[in-house]
Amino acid sequence: MKFLVLGAAAGGGLPQWNCGCANCNLARAGDIPAAGQSSLAVSLDGQRWSILNASPDVRQQMQDRASFHPRSLRDTPMQSMLLTNGDIDHIAGLLSLREQTPFALYATSEILGVLAENRIFDAVSREKVSRNAITLDAEFGLQDGLTARVFPVPGKVPLFMEGVTVQTDLVGEQTVGVRLSGGGKVAYYIPGCAEVTPDLLTQISDADILFFDGTLWDDEEMIREGTGVKTGRRMGHISISGSDGSIAKLEAVKAQKVFIHINNTNPIWRPDSEERAFVLASGWGISHDGMEISL
Ligand code: MLT
Ligand code: MN
Ligand code: ZN
Repeated sequence: MKFLVLGAAAGGGLPQWNCGCANCNLARAGDIPAAGQSSLAVSLDGQRWSILNASPDVRQQMQDRASFHPRSLRDTPMQSMLLTNGDIDHIAGLLSLREQTPFALYATSEILGVLAENRIFDAVSREKVSRNAITLDAEFGLQDGLTARVFPVPGKVPLFMEGVTVQTDLVGEQTVGVRLSGGGKVAYYIPGCAEVTPDLLTQISDADILFFDGTLWDDEEMIREGTGVKTGRRMGHISISGSDGSIAKLEAVKAQKVFIHINNTNPIWRPDSEERAFVLASGWGISHDGMEISL
């Protein structure tokens, strides 16, 4: 199983257009690599690919990676796309894929409902881009030889659909993790997760590799940096650090572990940061755009 990280950053990207935080300024200056918004590609043969989440940066991501260049007059190596929630960083890229080349789109009914409610997505022809509703916990073929299954992980409705009160640990069809199996390997992709529950630990116990939500280093990061007013918890994202954080909670998982969907404020972006050193010393990898992993 082959992976290509198309976008390692969370919503907003690195740098984010309106952000003058330390990391965004470093990325703008070319002192740390820039990163696009959240997306991971997977393939068995390196020829046919599936993309997990439609990043708003997908056009540039495909231009930057030769694996995604057309091989004939109208073509894409992308056979299918799967969405793990309805947030803008995971669906807006569909609008850049509207030029009538077929691929199969997979998501839960609830996430497909978000697309159906927003008429702008009608620009993506249903005839060319089939919208396939997937059932929680049921296997389906994402591409030849590659089986997928989605399962609920604690999360919330998309930011643009939030009401006055927001439940941040909903378990249902709005936020899912993905299990991929093929070529004798098992992978999990969970770019958004509010909490590591016992159910989740059981679910991922057969993983060879785990790509996991690395949005924030700590819960108060955006408030402390002055870039936001919300905690990680309020945004539906578990933090990396701390006794309730993902490193501690996922310590027993023996798979190769990689953080993805990393917010631009996260200190793990900086090569010389203590936080990055801690993550690496804990046995985790940190994804970057263009990162390739073969199992
Ligand atoms: C998130 O992961 O919290 C969202 O992508 C936020 C957003 O839509 O900007
Ligand atoms: Mn996001
Ligand atoms: Zn920033």
